[in-house]
Amino acid sequence: MRLAVLGAGDVGRAVADLADEYGHEVVALADSTSAAVDASGIAVDDALERKIDGEAIGPGDPEDVFETAYDVLIEATPTTLGDAEPGFSHVERALEADRHVVLANKGPVAERYEELRALEDESAGSIRFEATVGGAIPVLSTIEDSTPQAVTAVRGVLNGTANFILTRMAAEGLDYEHVLAEAQDLGVAEADPTFDVDGTDAALKFVILANVLADGGFSLEDATVEGIQDIPGSALDLAAEDGRTIRLIGEATRDGVRVGPRLVPENGALAVTGTRNIVQIETRNAGSLHSSGRGAGGPETATAVLSDVGRLPPL
Ligand code: HSE
Repeated sequence: MRLAVLGAGDVGRAVADLADEYGHEVVALADSTSAAVDASGIAVDDALERKIDGEAIGPGDPEDVFETAYDVLIEATPTTLGDAEPGFSHVERALEADRHVVLANKGPVAERYEELRALEDESAGSIRFEATVGGAIPVLSTIEDSTPQAVTAVRGVLNGTANFILTRMAAEGLDYEHVLAEAQDLGVAEADPTFDVDGTDAALKFVILANVLADGGFSLEDATVEGIQDIPGSALDLAAEDGRTIRLIGEATRDGVRVGPRLVPENGALAVTGTRNIVQIETRNAGSLHSSGRGAGGPETATAVLSDVGRLPPL
């Protein structure tokens, strides 16, 4: 497949680096807008150094991408809330041109799911978005294989930054501010980690899951969300006395989405450590299916993108 990649951050660049291994060709790569470049913290100079087949590719106009002959648009621009622009319009343009779309950008799938599906219905192209939930962990494809109707709930840890912070607070007896600063130094947390620690990022992922289970009906404003930023170190100490710890747990069902700090058994499946994610898929007839692994990162997320490309039908 010929891939046109919009978004030249960690994910877009990793797609460009790895596409070959999966038998695909990247024919265009651009940052979407200079505003998006600023929002994602991508330095313009850095973007200008990126190369495909020896040619420098800079942050540019999405027009350059849409004018290229491609089969699949990879939408990897930064997630935005509300109208989910400019990502939503990129998807719309590609579907209207009867191209496939693979999203790493959570915004359109969480905030405008029904509109996306309506556009897909009118297009010869399809949309896929495994990379929006849990990085490299095959969550959506597992639900698809089990058929969404047979899945009753999905729960787990889908934010690595918050999990890293809680793990370190519990293990070292450190307070939230201290561990957050450490996470930023290590590059685990973004310069602006607001959406990670206030639960928004995890909530977007569980909203996407609820949309898949219920075939739409949810956006971020339907989710009940609480973050980890007010958890005192003493709460983790108290939990430990009782053989428990605290994790930022989300749950998606056909009835709604909830994300918040929960007490979980210290040695239980949900108490994954560091930046790992875990997903438990509850099925009607086959019990609980668990998957755990790296839920973020350029190559990890690009792996999910390229797996999706491999599942697309020929155009
Ligand atoms: N920042 C997220 C995390 C990954 O820490 O898990 C992107 O959704």
